[in-house]
Amino acid sequence: MNNILISTGSYLPEKILTNSDLEKMVETNSEWIIERTGIKERHLAKPEELTSDLASKAAANALKKASLKPEDIDLIIVATTTPDLTFPATAVCVQEKLGIKNAAAFDIQAVCTGFIYAVSVADSLLKSGNFKRALVIGAETITKIIDWTDRNTCILFGDGAGAVIIEPSEKSDTGILSFSIHSDCSSRNILQTDSGVSLNQKAGLLRMEGKEVFKHAIVKLADCTSESLKKAGVTSEQIDWVIPHQANQRILDATIVKLGMPKEKLISTVAIHGNTSAASIPLALDWGFANNKFQPGQTLAMQAIGGGLTWGSVILKL
Ligand code: UT7
Repeated sequence: MNNILISTGSYLPEKILTNSDLEKMVETNSEWIIERTGIKERHLAKPEELTSDLASKAAANALKKASLKPEDIDLIIVATTTPDLTFPATAVCVQEKLGIKNAAAFDIQAVCTGFIYAVSVADSLLKSGNFKRALVIGAETITKIIDWTDRNTCILFGDGAGAVIIEPSEKSDTGILSFSIHSDCSSRNILQTDSGVSLNQKAGLLRMEGKEVFKHAIVKLADCTSESLKKAGVTSEQIDWVIPHQANQRILDATIVKLGMPKEKLISTVAIHGNTSAASIPLALDWGFANNKFQPGQTLAMQAIGGGLTWGSVILKL
């Protein structure tokens, strides 16, 4: 029996940072950003706006759409790299903000792959029979760990949150059909923070060797998607939509070509959201529903890569 997706929701902070705004901050230009990344604008959380605020709003949106009450949720997982505090977990802060009393709540840290990891963990916990309904959120205020003088990274990232609700069903041909998650620490230095709580009591700023990450991204995203397809017994022709982590339009385009799928199957929100780390897939998923892209019975392939390196994919039939 599979776990099915019953609702999605999202939230983006009000403030928008455009490429022209960035031109005033670092030596860059909008044409370069659009040509090399596809990004036109991204949302920015206010200093007092916390990851749990974004996450709670996205989750409340998903609960409302499914006509569910706080007590209908008994498992909350938040994928984030930018927690409100070192502890308690941001998921517990979300639990408090939504008034969800009887639930287990914890965070997952797999950077930009966090949402794929969180869905995989929720799927497994629901299959264990110990929980009845999971709220899985990808939420980030990633711009708070950006060096705004580093043009290699500051043009890429944005804030936001996306949420999904999944629950067990009697169906075996719908819902989460498979997942694959991986990590490899040998390339950790190409994408990491320059500080850490245990290292020097600081959160640190994001540092990335973009070109190196780019090379890994296309191969690993295509490989893990092929692996998940095989596990699910689904061919690439049977995939209706590919929802990748929204890092760079050129990565999205190259990966779909490597998978031998047409570009029309791609859900791309990178132009309007930028790279929102763990939030990017659930944001793109909710955007797809809001824009009437998906039909019941369609099959989606979600895929992500991030710091660690971590990478993974999920095959989901609606
Ligand atoms: O979310 C986790 C996963 N992250 C990713 O997947 C990110 C992967 N990497 C990328 O998306 C791309 O590598 C970047 C967008 C970060 C960079 O694009 P690129 O095509 O790899 O550019 P580059 O770093 O090779 O730089 C090309 C040129 C350089 O100038 P020279 O050395 O050729 O004279 C850079 O200094 O572009 C220059 N450059 C810029 N110019 C204008 C770098 N950043 C900028 C900028 N504006 N913001």
